[in-house]
Amino acid sequence: MASAVTIDGKAFAAGLRERVAKEVTKLKAEQGLTPGLAVVLVGEDPASQVYVRSKGKQTVETGMNSFEHKMDASVSQEELLAKVEELNADPAVHGILVQLPLPSHMDDLAVIDAIDPAKDVDGFHAINAGRLMTGGKGAAAPMVPCTPLGCLLLLRDHLGSLSGLTAVVVGRSNIVGKPMGQLLLQESCTVTTAHSRTKDLPAVCREADILVAAVGRPEMIRGDWIKPGATVIDVGINRIEGEAGGKARLVGDVATAEARKVAGAITPVPGGVGPMTIACLLANTVTAACRQAGIEAPDF
Ligand code: GUN
Repeated sequence: MASAVTIDGKAFAAGLRERVAKEVTKLKAEQGLTPGLAVVLVGEDPASQVYVRSKGKQTVETGMNSFEHKMDASVSQEELLAKVEELNADPAVHGILVQLPLPSHMDDLAVIDAIDPAKDVDGFHAINAGRLMTGGKGAAAPMVPCTPLGCLLLLRDHLGSLSGLTAVVVGRSNIVGKPMGQLLLQESCTVTTAHSRTKDLPAVCREADILVAAVGRPEMIRGDWIKPGATVIDVGINRIEGEAGGKARLVGDVATAEARKVAGAITPVPGGVGPMTIACLLANTVTAACRQAGIEAPDF
C-alpha cells in the first residue's frame, strides 16, 4: 500500500529557531538591538497557559527578551487596553501578542486593533490583514499570522513552487483559514476556502493538490476525501480524552491513518504544524524589531 511522506514540522521548526537565534546574535552584536516579545494572558484557560509558557521559554532560548503580563479574568476591557497602550509605548517591546480567546465580556477585535500594527506579531490587526490582502511590499509589508505562515513554509519546502496548484482550505477563521487562503493566492494557487456549510465538502476536497485542514473537528477529513498524491497540511490539534481513565491523545482534523494511504505527503499531529506556530512567532518578532529599527529584515 502506498504511504505518504511525513512532513516533519518539528525538525523544520528547530531549524527555523536556529536561524532566528543566529539573527538575534547578529542584531545584538552589530546593532545593539535585543528584540523583545510581550505576551498578555487574561484569565486561566489551561491550554492558553501552556502556550504562553512555551512562547516565553522559546523566546528566551533564542536570545530575545520575554515579557509576560498575566491579568485576572475579571479585568475590564479598559484595563486591558491600557496595558496594550503601555506596551505600544515601550521601546524594549517590539512584538505584542494578546493570547486568544479573551474572556467573553471583551471584544477581541477591538483589543487586537488597539495594538500598534508594527508590533502586531500575530498579524491579526485590520491593517496587517488588509496589507496581506493587497500584497503590500517593503515598508507596507504585513506581519503575517504565524500558523498560516508556518504552513506556507512547510509547503514551499516540500513542493518548491506552488504556482498553478489547486488549494482547498477547510476553515474560515481569522487566525488560520482566511490568511491561509490569501497566502496561497499570493503563491498563484487556485484557492477555495471551504467550511462547515460547504455543499459536498468531500468532493470539493478531492479537487485539492494542496489540502489545508483547519476546522477544529477531530478526524473529520477522511481518506476518501483526498486526491491521490495530494499534500495535506493538518492544522487541527484536538484533545481526545482517554476512555475509562486512559491517557488523553491528540488528533488532527484529518483521519491520518486513512489519509496516509492516499496522500503524497502529510503533516503529523503532533509534530507537524504545531511547532511551526511558535517558531514563526519568534521569526515575526525579529522581523518586527528590524522594521522598527529601520534595518532590513532577514528572509526566513
Ligand atoms: N490562540 C490560538 N492561537 C493563537 C495565536 O496564534 N495567537 C493568539 N494571540 N492567540 C491564539
